[in-house]
Amino acid sequence: MSKGTYYVTTPIYYPSSKLHIGHTYTTVAADAIARYKRATGYDVMFLTGTDEHGQKIETVAKAAGKTPQAFLDEIVGEIKDLWNTMEISYDDFIRTTEDRHKRRVQGIFMKLYEKGDIYKGEYQGMYCTPCESFWTDSQLKDGKCPDCGGPVQLMKEEAYFFRLSKYQDKLLELFETNPDILEPKSRINEMVNNFIKPGLEDLCISRSTFDWGIEVPIDKKHVIYVWLDALSNYITALGYPEEVDGKFAKYWPVDVHLVGKEIVRFHTIIWFSILMALGVPLPKKVFGHGWILLEGGKMSKSKGNVVDPVVLIERYGVDALKYFLLREYTFGQDGLFTNEVLLNRLNSDLANDLGNLVSRSVSMVEKYTGGIVPSPKESTAFDGSLIDTVTSASDKIDAYMNELNFSGALEEIWKVIRRTNKYIDETSPWALAKDPEKAPVLDTVLYNLIESIRVISVMIQPFLHHTSQAIWEQIGLKDGELTVWDTVTTFGLYPAGGTVQKGEALFPRIDIEKELEALEALSAAKRAEAAKANEKSESAPAKKPTAPFKPEITIDDFGKLDLRVAEITSAKAHPNADKLLILQLKVGDTNRQVVSGIAKYFDPEKLVGKKVVIVANLKPVKLRGELSEGMILAASDDETLALVTADIDDGCGVS
Ligand code: MSP
Repeated sequence: MSKGTYYVTTPIYYPSSKLHIGHTYTTVAADAIARYKRATGYDVMFLTGTDEHGQKIETVAKAAGKTPQAFLDEIVGEIKDLWNTMEISYDDFIRTTEDRHKRRVQGIFMKLYEKGDIYKGEYQGMYCTPCESFWTDSQLKDGKCPDCGGPVQLMKEEAYFFRLSKYQDKLLELFETNPDILEPKSRINEMVNNFIKPGLEDLCISRSTFDWGIEVPIDKKHVIYVWLDALSNYITALGYPEEVDGKFAKYWPVDVHLVGKEIVRFHTIIWFSILMALGVPLPKKVFGHGWILLEGGKMSKSKGNVVDPVVLIERYGVDALKYFLLREYTFGQDGLFTNEVLLNRLNSDLANDLGNLVSRSVSMVEKYTGGIVPSPKESTAFDGSLIDTVTSASDKIDAYMNELNFSGALEEIWKVIRRTNKYIDETSPWALAKDPEKAPVLDTVLYNLIESIRVISVMIQPFLHHTSQAIWEQIGLKDGELTVWDTVTTFGLYPAGGTVQKGEALFPRIDIEKELEALEALSAAKRAEAAKANEKSESAPAKKPTAPFKPEITIDDFGKLDLRVAEITSAKAHPNADKLLILQLKVGDTNRQVVSGIAKYFDPEKLVGKKVVIVANLKPVKLRGELSEGMILAASDDETLALVTADIDDGCGVS
């Protein structure tokens, strides 16, 4: 009988081509809790997926000469392959480009719009024309586009907004009355003091400067922008709002959204407000875990450390990598990754503690009782303490797992493993074996060891399921009645008379020094390969790939431009912006001022007298306090910038 439902999610991943072990952290954790809940009798729904919209994808795909969909299909395939290699037991994988998601996001948009929580307004921000991107002031790098490093301009566009500000008080009250909704608790203060109390602004949820997104159902010029699209996956995968009687009724509200700490803000403030606006119950919990970091650097720029999960799995196995991630780091906190930390953990916990226990015990049964597990006979002074430790562990494990303290839960299991190893030292079976009178005691010791190993093998299943199976093979058990979670509180279920058979070492001991050298060499080879590839591309005749072309326009679109020839009568640097020049222009018999982001390319003095082409009917804007009435035309050949100049003597209009 099911104990109830349990719904757990990971964030949906940006399809970046290579996921490193930091990325796998959330998913490995979700997999462990999903497997644990299934083992302990819950009907589990574990959702993961990919977050596939946005301008970046559109641009990168075009540069690769592919359609966004074809480009994504390939990369999403790689992500799915990785999860398969890591044996991630998800129940559903949602892609935001799937029809089921797109339709349902549009349904959610309409519900919010009809309720008055979405309205049309004007978005204002710093805009990078080549990247077609808006950036906030804090995203800019030295006042320039963080992507291409080029100049940005203050621009406005029509956009749809979600009334986030309306939910400010409700959010404050929520965190006050239901602090369990966000863990670790320290993150509540961060949300309340850094974001909610200073004031929430309405959220821009549409864009009209690119196409790669879900169409706003009432306005085809716009696509839904980022968070409304991405966050909704947690309910669209359950059928909301089309089918609310099926999976949605069964699994929502979600038991836990597992997310990295940097996206807690979106998963509480924005997501909770959207759900409140929809009248949908809130998640039971959002857990913001810490980051796995490298000394002095980002994981993506790793130097000597191997952070490719596939390489680590090839060398040490899936179970070892999952165990390491869950045991080494405290889930709510940041932690440091080095090759050395990894290898030490694998040797001490897996090769020494667990591997040795199994190999020593099985060898002794083979050696002393011909491979047959005897029935227990005469007890020893240490049995009580051993049995107590073995049978009392599951309550503590359960408490830790419910707190998502994976490291605590594993430590409880390892206490049992270490207690069992200690039992071997306490009872010294090799000494008992020398004295025929002690045979009944030896039988008890051997039985207790194998039975303890059985319980351990069941308890490690949600984390190290291959290892469980390898242990069952060695102690003559099959996946069945004696390997289910319910059996871990009862000591003595292993059927006496069962046969054991030594197998390969569960986790071969690693020679740490040698292995560190091998890993260093591996990283160095990868770096050399990358440098070579770089060199090759640098010595190639075309230094940069051709920038992607913008979407087609029609002749009617083009006809809207009023192009005129203008003479530059004066040019000077903008007092408040390094990259801008203020140009005075003569257009026919009128004068006007244009502010242009060309300071990097031209000496102002040399511009005077030049006849340039301008877009004369561009809506005037103020750029850093100076009025700009139009735009001078310039074109790029990917290397430099050239002004479009007019080969005529007078300043007549050309359009
Ligand atoms: N697409 C968004 C999430 C939208 S959810 C509606 C996103 N994607 S991501 O691919 O950038 O990140 C996915 C997960 O990987 C996040 O939980 C993130 O915190 C996690 N990690 C990425 N690098 C990490 C580490 N170095 N360490 C631990 N987790 C980190 O964000």
